[in-house]
Amino acid sequence: MAHQLVLVLDFGGQYNQLIARRVRECNVYCEVHPFKNAQQKIKELNPMGIIFTGGPNSVYEEDSPQIFKEIFDLGIPILGLCYGCQLMAYTLGGRVSTAQTREYGKTRTEFNTDSLLFKGLAQEATTWMSHTDYVEQIPQGFEIIANTDGCPVAAMQNESKRLYGIQFHPEVLHTDNGIKMFHNFVYEICGCKGDWTMGDYAKTAIADIRNKVGDGKVLLALSGGVDSSVAAALLAKAVGNQLTCIFVDHGFMRKNEGDEVVEAFADWGINFVRVDAEERFLSKLTDVSDPETKRKIIGEEFIRVFEDEAKKIGTVDFLVQGTIYPDVIESGAGDAAVIKSHHNVGGLPDYVDFKEIIEPLRLLFKDEVRQLGMELGLADYLVWRQPFPGPGLAIRVIGDITKEKLDILRDADYIFREEIANAGMDRSIHQYFAVLTSMRSVGVMGDGRTYDYTLALRGVTTTDFMTADFARIPYDVLEKISSRIINEVRLINRIVYDITTKPPATIEWE
Ligand code: XMP
Repeated sequence: MAHQLVLVLDFGGQYNQLIARRVRECNVYCEVHPFKNAQQKIKELNPMGIIFTGGPNSVYEEDSPQIFKEIFDLGIPILGLCYGCQLMAYTLGGRVSTAQTREYGKTRTEFNTDSLLFKGLAQEATTWMSHTDYVEQIPQGFEIIANTDGCPVAAMQNESKRLYGIQFHPEVLHTDNGIKMFHNFVYEICGCKGDWTMGDYAKTAIADIRNKVGDGKVLLALSGGVDSSVAAALLAKAVGNQLTCIFVDHGFMRKNEGDEVVEAFADWGINFVRVDAEERFLSKLTDVSDPETKRKIIGEEFIRVFEDEAKKIGTVDFLVQGTIYPDVIESGAGDAAVIKSHHNVGGLPDYVDFKEIIEPLRLLFKDEVRQLGMELGLADYLVWRQPFPGPGLAIRVIGDITKEKLDILRDADYIFREEIANAGMDRSIHQYFAVLTSMRSVGVMGDGRTYDYTLALRGVTTTDFMTADFARIPYDVLEKISSRIINEVRLINRIVYDITTKPPATIEWE
């Protein structure tokens, strides 16, 4: 697939994926690579433009990430953001200094709208600043194209060399018209034509898959999540009944979910195997209460079940995995700490006899996967399904798991989801679910004492699930949810709403 490409060089900033997504929202394909690989990637990918991301360092620190100076003479347009802007200034002979105080938050900014970067924008608007260092003196050949009270060089350009630097963060939504700035960069400055759309992607991907697969047999582990469902739809369109999907129902799905998945694929002309493995999983988890041990057991058992089913099919030629782009981006800043071992249902290659792996979503961000799903005509409720952890409700029953606890949780979670949808909040809250805490407390119902479970409700808003805020669900909606659950689900007598952000908490409780 030959698309025009913008190369994002990662200097360790926290918004790097967001930058890439913004570029793609402008219908321009874009990849993120560590700054260290810049030279090789430029040669390999022949980019229309390059974006330097922000990063946590100061340019004059000894070990700070640097860039080879000749990059500015290649004739490829470059946009430096935050650290990337400082690095551009510093490398080209400007001066970068440390401010007395950090400039942070929403900031009034004045723009020179004669600059192509700010073409068509208002002359004054709000930007999102987050920096201590700043460009004190611009390099020769540059001019200032934006400023704020605290920051004399909020943006700079060398128009003839097509080099641009921005101190603020156009990629975050707090910056007015940020998208338009990316749009201007890729179209007005880099000259891209906008050849990245999901309609085109679907056509090319289907043709590529057909080419590759020929008359071979394809196997896919379907979890019912967005990624594996869209991968299945794509493969179904490409190779029809050469595809077999194995859907392992581990018994930790939400209410009705297993049946919904089966129904959604009923008319796609593929071979569909549903394995009802609830008892098998439950027996492995008897008296297991440690979250990581649960994850491990479920991950292993999943592979065993899948393997048993796959053996019945015999040798297959291709195994499909629903890997998406955020999983393959290699960070410029090195490895982050592992907080939870996120077992992704789908990581199975060692155990099944196959020749090759197909990863048809490898280039796509989550929102693009959804667009592709819609393009392919997949059911809405699958495309817009909120993220659901591989181990499912097994990590939403705190501590040891029983069928009874799972059923209680399923019923309560169903009511919660139904009322959030009734309140019209099902797309604005990015993930919401109930947790059965396994803590019991005293209550009074009718005239009697109860000693039943406490249920926790969690709802978060987030862009990347790395950080999250708790959702501000109105009290009257919470009240309705609470009274319905207490009345309709037995063995719950107390409901709490989780008001922690991530960090310090995580989204799931286990
Ligand atoms: P945490 O709890 O780490 O969750 O803040 C971040 C996102 O990851 C999901 N999650 C998982 N997904 N297997 C998965 O496939 C797991 O074991 C797992 N644990 C958490 C979680 O639902 C949230 O969207």
